[in-house]
Amino acid sequence: MSKSIVLLPGDGIGPEVVGEAVKVIGALKSRHGLDAEMRHAPIGGSAYDETGEPLPERTLELCREADAILLGAVGGRKWDAIDYPLRPEQGLLALRSKLELFANLRPAIAYARLSPASSLHPRLVAGLDLMIVRELTGGIYFGEPRGIREEDGERIGFNTLVYSESEIERIARKAFKVAAKRRCRVCSVDKANVLESSRLWRETVGRVGRDFMNCELTHMYVDNAAMQLVREPKQFDVIVTGNMFGDILSDIAAQLTGSIGMLPSASLGKRSQGLYEPIHGSAPDIAGQDKANPLAAILSVAMLLRHSLDEPDLADRVQSAVARVIEQGCRTSDIYRGDGKRVGTREMGDAVVTALVE
Ligand code: IPM
Ligand code: MG
Repeated sequence: MSKSIVLLPGDGIGPEVVGEAVKVIGALKSRHGLDAEMRHAPIGGSAYDETGEPLPERTLELCREADAILLGAVGGRKWDAIDYPLRPEQGLLALRSKLELFANLRPAIAYARLSPASSLHPRLVAGLDLMIVRELTGGIYFGEPRGIREEDGERIGFNTLVYSESEIERIARKAFKVAAKRRCRVCSVDKANVLESSRLWRETVGRVGRDFMNCELTHMYVDNAAMQLVREPKQFDVIVTGNMFGDILSDIAAQLTGSIGMLPSASLGKRSQGLYEPIHGSAPDIAGQDKANPLAAILSVAMLLRHSLDEPDLADRVQSAVARVIEQGCRTSDIYRGDGKRVGTREMGDAVVTALVE
């Protein structure tokens, strides 16, 4: 039966990078037997402009029915003044939350030929293969109460960092299962020396870890983890952490690989349905200029094929094609360091499509 993919291009460079990902899906359909239909739907700022909401009901409905969702990016200065509940980012956060996509996998892989693009010494990043498992539907992003209130003549902004045992347990289980297919090492990152929610996090992850005795479990405070990521990143296999720490650490991990334009992600829940997106933002400064790197979006297609469409061979094919174009020297501006060929968004997408058959 044909699988259904909903495309949510979003804002800024989102439509451009999703456009290249669609070329890749199209080539897999016409030449490699993929049976999938694609439908577009609005999200983020462009959805707000069209309908007055960053996540229109119709978009949510289409996503609920789909086997997989591919998203570009949301947000931009144009919508900065809008109230929080209607901001473009809320569209994405609501989608993650309503579909209960609690597990966000963010692999950071450093391609050998791209080590000059990293801000760290090639010796520190060559061969890096790290997976961040970020809790995605809880923590301070969603905790109540939240808001800005008046007290004693001044305004007070507040948010709540809250995690229940069951939320911690399910993300920990996911992390151990991911690690079991890798190098069997999990590092749980928290701030248990200061925060009660982190103390519960540490205890709970430790308890879950006893069900996975073949995996090594270590704990690290988030400040140290940030430092260790830039000091000796290859010490990590799987990092499991909460929503906000994961947001921050995954941007650090992205830069290790050379560019944030290289990192895909998968957001998964109980079902096989998933949301796939590059971890980069909407980059309004380069939008519409054929400058964006589409590889994170294309690598997100590989994750989509693997986790939601049960097409591991096609996923491998996409990943190999990306590795090949990097080997061939194709470089968008973000990863161009004087060698190889500087290409635009579209030319990079075309190169991947060509490399799919090799
Ligand atoms: C990410 C992004 C989002 C997040 C924003 C756009 C809401 O930074 O996916 O990392 O904070 O989760
Ligand atoms: Mg982020």
